[in-house]
Amino acid sequence: MKPTVAAFPATRLRRLRRTPAIRALVQENTLTPADFIWPVFVREGEGIEEPIPSMPGVVRRSVDLIGQAAREAHALGIPAICLFPYTDPALKTEDCAEAWNPDNLSNRATRAIKEAVPDIAVMTDVALDPYNINGHDGFVEDGVIVNDRTVEALVKQALSQAEAGVDIIGPSDMMDGRIGALRSALEGAGHQDVLLLSYAAKYASGFYGPFRDAVGASGALKGDKSTYQMNPANTDEALRLIERDLQEGADMIMVKPGMPYLDICRRAKEVFAAPTFAYQVSGEYAMLQAAAQNGWLDGEKVMLESLMAFKRAGCDGILTYFAPAAAEILGG
Ligand code: PBG
Repeated sequence: MKPTVAAFPATRLRRLRRTPAIRALVQENTLTPADFIWPVFVREGEGIEEPIPSMPGVVRRSVDLIGQAAREAHALGIPAICLFPYTDPALKTEDCAEAWNPDNLSNRATRAIKEAVPDIAVMTDVALDPYNINGHDGFVEDGVIVNDRTVEALVKQALSQAEAGVDIIGPSDMMDGRIGALRSALEGAGHQDVLLLSYAAKYASGFYGPFRDAVGASGALKGDKSTYQMNPANTDEALRLIERDLQEGADMIMVKPGMPYLDICRRAKEVFAAPTFAYQVSGEYAMLQAAAQNGWLDGEKVMLESLMAFKRAGCDGILTYFAPAAAEILGG
């Protein structure tokens, strides 16, 4: 339906913007701490909070500090934490076996959060890149990222995460058939209530650079990820991927990166009406923080504006490194 607008002066649209009270009354979208999933980096050691230079304000925490971080997030009203491990380079192998070690960093961090704050949802990443000596999300055979053998490994990885107690599994690998394989493996193992948030439309993006520093994958990666992540020029393909993943048993879907792909968020929400998330990725965070630190942008303002953009585009929630800072402002 097309909105009707009477001619001036019967319609003066500025009437609706005159005072804060009136602006609040007619505001169309809202942003709350409940919209956020907070991505958190974990590492070995004790009592460590190690800054990540390309992500000012973000740290890698040792597992013993993760419970405290979860308590803080919970107190701020953030419903979910997403874990990313910085794996000891010595544990990175060609067979990626650390990915399904029940005592790997990610699984220990999951148990620590569940012990500290049972009510906060824990999400984990399914992909081989933190464990792969080649830095890729899948196994590499003769320079090719192989699909089906990778999916078998992803199933083992996801089952070990489910055993550790995660609520949401986020396959970020972009292999074909992984959602169906994960869903049936979870059903078969009695983990029928574990959610799958599929990184369904994940683009081969330059905006992941700081994240790869954060998980120590930058040096390892040979080549790029264009044979499995999407071409940034495509839209219809995103819809095909999302539909396929929903049919295979994804409960929620994600578009990634976020800000440069708001058109995809909007289309995905309109077409499928499924729970839709965007990942405001490391490079998006880094560029806003860098400009704010230089005094070129008002950091707080652009943070909230960028997050509201996702709600406007139809997203139900946002994975963002700004989660605690934004929740603090929105909740207070
Ligand atoms: C890898 C993964 C990536 C991110 C989340 N999971 C990077 C990649 O695909 O290379 C990126 C997140 C970010 O940039 O914040 N499976």
